Amino acid sequence: MYDLTRRTFVGSALACVACSDGSTANPVERATVPLRSVAPFPIGCALNSADLNDPGLMTLFKRNFSQVTAGYEMKMGLIAMRNGSFNYQRGDIIADFASQNKMDLHGHTLVWYKSEPDAFKNLAGNPSAFADLYKRYIVETVTHYRHRARGWDVINEPVMHKGEGMRDSLWSRMLGPDDYMIEALAHAAEAAPEIPRFINEYSLEEPGKRRIFMDMIERLLKRGAKISGIGTQTHIKIDLAKGALTDTIKDLASFGLPVHVSELDISYGHRRVDTRSDADRQALQAERAAELVHAYVKLPAKQQYGMTIWGVRDKDSWLRHAPFPTTGDAPLPFDDDGHAKPMLRAMLDAFRGVA
Ligand code: XIL
Repeated sequence: MYDLTRRTFVGSALACVACSDGSTANPVERATVPLRSVAPFPIGCALNSADLNDPGLMTLFKRNFSQVTAGYEMKMGLIAMRNGSFNYQRGDIIADFASQNKMDLHGHTLVWYKSEPDAFKNLAGNPSAFADLYKRYIVETVTHYRHRARGWDVINEPVMHKGEGMRDSLWSRMLGPDDYMIEALAHAAEAAPEIPRFINEYSLEEPGKRRIFMDMIERLLKRGAKISGIGTQTHIKIDLAKGALTDTIKDLASFGLPVHVSELDISYGHRRVDTRSDADRQALQAERAAELVHAYVKLPAKQQYGMTIWGVRDKDSWLRHAPFPTTGDAPLPFDDDGHAKPMLRAMLDAFRGVA
């Protein structure tokens, strides 16, 4: 379905404006075409099970997105129980939502330094039992979602915050730096060889961190690691230099693997005093969003895994919660009331090639 030509998609998007879909009575939503209708690849969004109880959010979600990533409910911390069993209840709510709404599901995430459950920590003195649980976790989880997840972030955030080097974690200490990734990728491939396996990272717009990340990908590929794609989270700020996103997408695509823009949001940043008007900040945000779309649509179709936004309305953003400053960041395409922002319009225009 996603390898239709761009022309076909633009055509269907325009056709969709003309038809009355009757799905919503909100005139502001009607003023924009659905994001999912203009992109020749899946357009995803992060979802938490609590979001299902918010009708305003649900309307926007179903209208604009064609793929779902669990915000946190498919992470190890929620799934791996203390006694070594696995609980998929919360993740299944997200997976069921995706299938009920005929959306794709992107699995996020199998191995992450921020999710180190007690079941694993308790085995720190027993390396072989640790390795067995590691394998069992990955194989069972990938198998559980096998016919639903279209891809997995097998490894999340393996590079240090500012790209100082590789991140130290329970996984790297117990299984060896690089080896913990190679093994996880192999276990995931064993469970479901057909499902693409991603390594997902943030701040790849910073040339230094990007270099470390790309060196790592190269090293792993040379060792035969079963990497099938690269996830670039794209948690960026409105004052990111013009051109940085274009360079990032181009560089990451140089491996020839699919690239997933996996967690897009465009923060106002945390200036102590921000004297810019809201209109100026929104204009900058729209510029960066347009640049990203322009860069991404230039990739060969087989490298366009999709583009995922990390939330719907500004008030839904993780950046509105601790540890981030609580003062009005607005990083998403819809405002608190669910109205389309310049960021959304810029993306639509960029997809339709009119700007
Ligand atoms: C965040 C979620 O949005 C929050 O709800 C959760 O409390 C913490 O994690 N990089 C990632 C995502 O890979 O999993 C993070 O998501 C945001 C940063």
